[in-house]
Amino acid sequence: MLLHYLLGLFLHIFLCCADSIPVAPAPWDLQVSEGYAFVLAPLVSTAFLPPGFANPLEAPELRPGIILPDIGLIIITRYSAAPVGPYDELIYIPGRWAYNLTDSGLRITQIYVSTNASVSNGRTNWNIPEHLADFDFTTSADGSTTVTVSPPGDASNPHFKARLSPTTAPIPIQINTAFTGDYLTLIQPSFAASATNSVEVGTDTWKQLLLNVQTDTLAATIISGALPGGKIGNGIGFPDIQPLLPVGARLSGTLVFPVPSIVPNM
Ligand SMILES: *[C@@H]1O[C@H](CO)[C@@H](O)[C@H](O)[C@H]1NC(C)=O
Ligand SMILES: *[C@@H]1O[C@H](CO)[C@@H](O)[C@H](O)[C@H]1NC(C)=O
Repeated sequence: MLLHYLLGLFLHIFLCCADSIPVAPAPWDLQVSEGYAFVLAPLVSTAFLPPGFANPLEAPELRPGIILPDIGLIIITRYSAAPVGPYDELIYIPGRWAYNLTDSGLRITQIYVSTNASVSNGRTNWNIPEHLADFDFTTSADGSTTVTVSPPGDASNPHFKARLSPTTAPIPIQINTAFTGDYLTLIQPSFAASATNSVEVGTDTWKQLLLNVQTDTLAATIISGALPGGKIGNGIGFPDIQPLLPVGARLSGTLVFPVPSIVPNM
């Protein structure tokens, strides 16, 4: 009996705490061991947001407003150190939304990360609408890396798959400017919590933050879609889009996600 009791207690503690999510408030200092950024053509209006621009859970809150004629970004990052431990990330930023008469900010509308700790804290800290995914990075003998981002436990149905290859082409000027100054100001709407997934928490207030990126190295990289038909995204979990130019940047260094400002809900 005692043995059964102790075994039960042990299992309870193990199951409870193996599943518990650490709370890691802002600011976060992140080490980027491998990052890639690609520029997307500006969208004329939110009517042109492509299918897969956001998870259906947050799309109603992430679509509204006026999108300004500015570039979008696809960013892939491997963090080797973070307050919640290492994780991988895929970001889609369709562009910049007008916030009020004087302010505007980029909006992350679709984002996958490889750990629940990042999902929960990213949502809570900065209104970043993160969802969990499985990431695979496979490097070939020719120096190219294939990145696959799939629903958890479903590698046969990727949201996103692309090959990243070194090139001697110059890095597009828009990328260099995107990572300097106040360009990477995010203004993120609040959104509701998931009814079915406890780590997909919601928030009540809009948040504004300026990402601080300090990259140590820069090299040009070519992206090519590795889904059937040369697609990058499947058009459901990630947009079926192509960058403005196939050439982007490979980055490594540090990224700071600061304490955000709470701004009035629009
Ligand atoms: C616009 O929003 C910013 C906060 O992001 C605020 O400081 C500023 O006062 C607002 N301006 C107007 C005209 O509402
Ligand atoms: C992430 O959290 C969800 C909701 O609690 C859970 O169903 C899922 O198994 C967790 N996944 C991992 C890899 O911990």
